[in-house]
This record gives sequence, C-alpha cells and structure tokens, in this order.
Amino acid sequence: MSSTSIDSLLHESRRFPPSDEFTAGAVAKADLYARAEADRLGFWADQARDLLHWHKPFTQTLDWTQAPFAKWFADGALNVAYNCLDRHVLAGHGDRVALHWEGEPGDSRTLTYAELTTEVKRAANLLASLGIGQGDRVAIYLPVIPEAVIAMLAVARLGAVHSVVFGGFSSESLRARIDDAQARLVITADGGWRKGKVFPLKAAVDGALASDGPTSVEHVLVVRRGENEVAWTEGRDLWWHEEIAPMDLEHEAKAFEAENPLFILYTSGTTGKPKGILHTSGGYLTHVAFTHKNVFDLHPETDVYWCTADVGWITGHSYVVYGPLANGATQVLYEGTPDTPHPGRWWELIEKYKVSVFYTAPTAIRSFMKAGRQIPQKFDLSSLRLLGSVGEPINPEAWIWYRDIIGGGHTPVVDTWWQTETGGIMISALPGITTLKPGSAQVPLPGISVDVLTDDGQSVPNGSGGLLVVTEPWPGMLRGIWGDPERFIETYWEKFDTGEGAERRRMYFAGDGARKDEDGDLWLLGRVDDVMNVSGHRLSTAEIESALVSHPYVAEAAVVGASDETTGQAVVAFVIVKASQAEVATADEASAILRAHVAEQIGAIARPRQVFVVNELPKTRSGKIMRRLLRDVAEGRELGDTTTLTDTSVMQIITEKLK
Ligand code: PRX
Repeated sequence: MSSTSIDSLLHESRRFPPSDEFTAGAVAKADLYARAEADRLGFWADQARDLLHWHKPFTQTLDWTQAPFAKWFADGALNVAYNCLDRHVLAGHGDRVALHWEGEPGDSRTLTYAELTTEVKRAANLLASLGIGQGDRVAIYLPVIPEAVIAMLAVARLGAVHSVVFGGFSSESLRARIDDAQARLVITADGGWRKGKVFPLKAAVDGALASDGPTSVEHVLVVRRGENEVAWTEGRDLWWHEEIAPMDLEHEAKAFEAENPLFILYTSGTTGKPKGILHTSGGYLTHVAFTHKNVFDLHPETDVYWCTADVGWITGHSYVVYGPLANGATQVLYEGTPDTPHPGRWWELIEKYKVSVFYTAPTAIRSFMKAGRQIPQKFDLSSLRLLGSVGEPINPEAWIWYRDIIGGGHTPVVDTWWQTETGGIMISALPGITTLKPGSAQVPLPGISVDVLTDDGQSVPNGSGGLLVVTEPWPGMLRGIWGDPERFIETYWEKFDTGEGAERRRMYFAGDGARKDEDGDLWLLGRVDDVMNVSGHRLSTAEIESALVSHPYVAEAAVVGASDETTGQAVVAFVIVKASQAEVATADEASAILRAHVAEQIGAIARPRQVFVVNELPKTRSGKIMRRLLRDVAEGRELGDTTTLTDTSVMQIITEKLK
C-alpha cells in the first residue's frame, strides 16, 4: 500500500456505533468475547456442539501435540452434507428456500432444503456408482449453477474430497490441479454464461486431459448448461442429466471422523507452483457456521443472504456453500457478471429477492462507485440491513459509499479479514456490538487470537505496524498443503517459532502487514510477500513470471503488483526479449502476445495490465530482482534507494524508456 493511502487511513476518524434497535435484535451478544477469553477451547467446543449435529459426539477439543498439524474434535464423527441439508429437513424446514438461483440470461431456479437434499442424495448415489468413496479426489470445474453446490455436497456426503477449480482458469492450470490431487473424476459443464456469451468449459477439460502423460481421471461428468457443442470421448464422458435420472432418491449419510479431509483449494504462494490448501470437516464446519451466523447476524427464518463470490474461491466455499447451508439460510446464487445485461443487474436481484444481507468485494464496490450512484438508485434496496466486504482492504471512501448508497445510510458494514488458509473469517466487527471504523477490519472474532509483530517477533504497541500473526490454533485452520508438509511448515510456521520443549510456541504467519491504531484495532496493509491481490484474487508474481519465460520470446521476466484504483492491484510485467526474437516482433506486438500468453497459461485473471519490454532488469549484487524499484516505475513514483543495484544506470534507462 502506498504511503498516501496509509496517511489517509490514519486520518480516518468517522465512527459508526450500532443502533439500539440493531443491538436489541442482534444474534451476537457482547458476552461472546468474555466467554471465549475465559476458556477458548471450551468456547469452541460449545460452538461445535450447538451449531452442528454429531453422529458421534467428541470428547477432545484440540490436539496440538503434532503442531503445526492440528486436530480438532478428533474423536467425534459427523457428516458435513447431513449438517447442511438433512437435519434442516428433519427439523421441519424442508419447505424453506435454500437457493434462489438466477442465471445470467435471466432464467432462474428455486430449490428448497427438501429439494436440495434430494438432489444431493441422487448425486451422491451417482458418484458412488462411478466408484467414488471416502478419500477420493473429485475436481469440480463448473459455472455458478446449482449443480456446483450439489456436486460439492455430494462429494462431502461420501467422505470424498473436492478440489473446485475456478472456471476462469486455463486448461493448463486445471491439469496441474488435477495431477497434483490425482483426481479420479472431473465434474464440469458444457459451458456457462458470462458477459452475454457462453464460455466453454468442457473444451478446457478436454484440453487439460489431452495434454502430456497419463491422467488419474477416469470419468468426466458433464452438466448441460450452455448448450454449446462439445466433443465427446466415449467411455470417459458422461452427461450428468442422463446418469442422475435413474438414481435412487434416498441415500444414507454415513458419519466420518472430524478430521476427514473435506476439500483442497489451490491458491497462489510465493513460488510458481500453487499450493493445495487442505481443509477437514468438523473444525472447518464449526468455524464457518459460527462466523456466518454471528458476523452476518443471520436470522434464518427471515433473512435472504447473498454472497457474490464464485464457488471456485474460498469465499464461495465458506460463505456460499458450507456456512450458510449449515445455518439453514436462504440465499441468492447468481451465475453471471454484475453488469450483464445491464449495469444495475446486482441491484435488480437485490430488489427481486429482497436480499437483506449482502457480501461482496471492494473491487466491485469501487467499480460501481465509478459508474455512479444513479444506477443503484433506480432500484429498491430497502430490504438490505447488513453489508459485508472481503478480499482486500476497503478504503474508507468505498466503505462510506457502500453504506450510504447501497445501505441507505443506515446498514452496518463489516469488513472481514481472512484467507484461503484460515478457512473462515478471523478479524471483523460484530454487528450490533462493535462501533465501526471505515477502512479497518478491527478486531479478532471471539475465540481467535491475533497479534502484530516486528520482524523479530516482538508484539508492536498500539499506533505501530508490523506482520500479522495468529497466535493460537483455530478450528477452521488449514491442516496442511496437499502432498507437501515441508512447504506447509516453511511457509506459515517457521518464521515465528520460539522456545523448546513444553515452552515451544509457534505462531501462524499470514503474509499480511497490519497496523494497530491507538485503540488496538487492526488496519490491514496488504501482502508483505510476492503475492499480489488483484480484485480480491491472489496471484503469485513467480507463477506469472514462469508463464512469461515459458514463451519463446522471453529471456527474463519480472512481475510486480502495482496499485490500481479499481482492482486494488494490477499485474505489471517487465520482460527482456531474447536477442534472436527482437526482430520478429516490435515491443508493442510482443507485449500484446505475452499478455495473451499469460491468460492462456494461467487464466484471464492473471493477464498483465501492462507488459514492458526492457533491456535490463534491476538486480542486487546477489542477483535478486529488485521488485520494489519496478513497482516505483509501474506506479509512476520517484525511484527509491538504488544504491544496492549492480548497475545503478539500469533504472534510469528503464524509466527513460517508459516515459
Ligand atoms: O491479503 C489479504 C487479503 O486477501 C488475502 C487472502 O486471499 P485469499 O486466500 O484469496 O482469500 C480471499 C478471501 C478471504 C489476505 O492475505 N484480504 C482478504 N480479506 C481482506 C484482505 N485484506 C484486507 N482486508 C480484508 N478484509
């Protein structure tokens, strides 16, 4: 984050105390903090018992003896899908709407809890008939359609493990994820709707499976959605609608131990290879159910909740699928983009379904701000009573606009900080309790302990900044990186590991910078490592660099995240073109070709905003690229300290060239 934005944060003094009316009806009561403080583990055990159905009750809460590999509620057993479905039907809520789904072209489907339960039972029977059982990995590559939710829950019901791959990722990215998890089955669609067109998904799966080497995939189940033409591999490919038709409507949910793996979700780290973040069942479901209920003040009988995230991201896992369904919420699910077929589409849906709780990302809010308030003002948004934000720091101006223009000047706005790794929300205001500060994620939730440390592990005083850590294990924490325990320890647990024997203390290093204000509230400052955050999505500089150097034009590449008014950060690349290729294309042509190449290698979200062709890259004497200087150039700033460069003239040359 640039120094100007830190300054504007520090001058932010607006405060929004909860209204008496909101507090009186709020789900979260202030005594949660004291209860968790007095007995953190007892508090989580109570949440796990109150919020979930256990086929076999647990007697142990946390086992941290193999730290940092945690076990929560380890001797208990449950079925995650049963908790999200059957038990609500058995409690008499079968007629409650679970999903109000809306397709981008305007088609819609409503599924009650009873209907969704039946669909998941049939799907579980179908997957079982294809040989899927406990521990098997299933890749899911679908648009945001009800079948995405059904597929995830059917996998969970069988005690198998899903790996959802965002539909915007390329065949190459999909293949790498399939291989890493050794998935036996891929569930996809012919295509999905986006920006008024059908984008092909099955073709990308075909591409992924056609590329080199044998694959672990036995079958590809294809949901019919886009109705676009698809190629077919007999014996491997199966239509979902044909296969599911004869399936039994009943399926008994068996209990699995609390630590049974639930899903793998790949996210970018500081190397070129994405990490398969592993989450398990009982602790994860406790964490997402607790946070969904308290942070979103969920009144399941009356609220209509809408989280705009795609199911391909962690937000879609925790706050579209598992949290809301575990709590018996009614929610909206929308396939398309916010501006298709018109720029007021989201607001139209809020009006149509009378959405009361709405959760989205700052990038979206900033782009609506740019388009102007006259667009949302055409719609009746009076059903809204609570707004949430996630994925990146929300600047105070966007926060105020969100509350005033979308929230009618009265809704609380909760800024929620968390990560793929944390499983669920960690830092957030609680509506009805916390006095809100625009721009700050504020306080750790009850049962969560965080701190801000100096590089050598000292807790910083109020008024100072440093590195954000989680100081105690929490139920939704990642249990590892799929197939790579060493990387798990190195990435998150080695930086702050002190003492020996019984005195040993390990803290989780989040990779984010944060500042404590004078009250001790937390202000997130962005990543401190080589991970970028573009529109709330994590991208790795190393991964994009390796995509760039895989192109025959490129000799060397350096990628930085430059600040961007709308998307938070944008990908900016600097490349040295091989001498042999310099004649083949002009710098402008090379830049266009390389932008397209990255989109094809990783996915459109990774396409650089700019690719600059340069003659040299700034390096230290030990050969490390000085990204800090490239960031200065990309953001149009005066250059910082260049004295450690091998060749101090390099930056001058680059800057001159880009003028
Ligand atoms: O840098 C933080 C930022 O997003 C990162 C996590 O990205 P991901 O795993 O993709 O999960 C995004 C959705 C939970 C964090 O390390 N981040 C997330 N939420 C916030 C945030 N930064 C500031 N404020 C937030 N509320």
